[in-house]
Amino acid sequence: MKIEPATALVGDVAVPGVKSISHRAVLLGAIAEGDSDVHNFGRAGDTESTIHVVRALGVDVEEDDDHVRVHGVGMRGLRAPGEALDCGNAGTLMRLLAGILAGQDGEFVLTGDESLSSRPMERIAEPLRLMGAAVTTADGHAPVTVRGGELQPITYELAVASAQVKSCILLAGLYANAGPTVVVEKDAPTRDHTERMLKLMGARVQSSPRQAMVWPAERLEPLSLELPGDFSSAAPLIVAATMLPGSELRIHGVNLNPTRTGLLGVLERMGARVSIFNRRTLAGEPAGDIEVRSADLTATRIDAAEVPLLIDELPLFALIAARAHGDSEVKGAQELRTKESDRIESVTIALRALGIRITARHDGFGVRGIATRPKGGGMESAGDHRLAMLGAVAGLVSREGVNVGGAEAAAISFPGFFDLLESVTRR
Ligand code: S3P
Repeated sequence: MKIEPATALVGDVAVPGVKSISHRAVLLGAIAEGDSDVHNFGRAGDTESTIHVVRALGVDVEEDDDHVRVHGVGMRGLRAPGEALDCGNAGTLMRLLAGILAGQDGEFVLTGDESLSSRPMERIAEPLRLMGAAVTTADGHAPVTVRGGELQPITYELAVASAQVKSCILLAGLYANAGPTVVVEKDAPTRDHTERMLKLMGARVQSSPRQAMVWPAERLEPLSLELPGDFSSAAPLIVAATMLPGSELRIHGVNLNPTRTGLLGVLERMGARVSIFNRRTLAGEPAGDIEVRSADLTATRIDAAEVPLLIDELPLFALIAARAHGDSEVKGAQELRTKESDRIESVTIALRALGIRITARHDGFGVRGIATRPKGGGMESAGDHRLAMLGAVAGLVSREGVNVGGAEAAAISFPGFFDLLESVTRR
């Protein structure tokens, strides 16, 4: 798909519901006592995988546009199907589900697509084994086999800053024979959607930026949620509007959970003009409307402590840094290598092909700012949704446009992305 250069982004938009919360609402709704309603569900390839998997586990899910109703079967009501559970491209699904299955009767096999099958799974297998579940991986990767058992609580310090690993352990902790199960986040706090949702469902949870604790639960109350928009889906629009002179864009009803909005802090110190209005609470999470105007930017550095707060936005940071005054740098972000693609390699290869001066490092990248628009050309998504959206933004801010190979990967998190972008693009 060819994305032509733009002059500005102008208008008012909303983006689909938070993908991370959508996964959690279906998974936790499935083990709730009664029916959960989720409005503004983040319908996308990844969350379809979650609906498909809970159905295979014996849970009824009704779908009507972006309203999803999950008929919960109770904490221990999931049934082992005769076949493997296909998690598609969704790491969040595979890792959180493993924590829930560790508390069920039976044996479950979790598979995924080629990308998911190359991502590390020992990071969840190890703590689940410590709790007493029988978990195997194929040399550290999917297929992951989980046989539930009697679980004990653990105190576990995360070796990598990962909300998926934290959530997996907390969910298994709901099934432990005592409490609390404690997850210690040594370096940096990660997103806390699981903790917030469990609290809404009546579970006993205590969380602080450095540790999360959960106690065993007999039952979870069903959910009734109106989801805010996904900050990670708003981010390509925020970056494009900041880079295109004359832009004036408002994105309504976006999740502003501080464990997700690290990009706003980074953009602020670079000199961006982003304001927040109508702050409110949606689905137990902070939300608001975001207004973006274009701005001249100065370079900045991002280090390990900040990385989890914008982990999925670092590819976009690489692009925006290319137009900042000075040299920018990301360090302590080796986790990027374990995402849907190796995002240090894939981002570096893609952006260099467009004329951007980016250098890969083992744990991040360096970017040299230039005074002109990048030339453009062709790049590949490598089957990675964040790369597909990065390519589109790069096309808008380029001189000659960008041909994005594998653009359809955007549908993994944001199916209507290209149409929505086009609707606010001025050429
Ligand atoms: C997610 C957590 C992050 C993020 C991913 C979604 C979640 O992964 O990159 O897109 O929903 O918990 P890690 O926690 O493994 O870094």
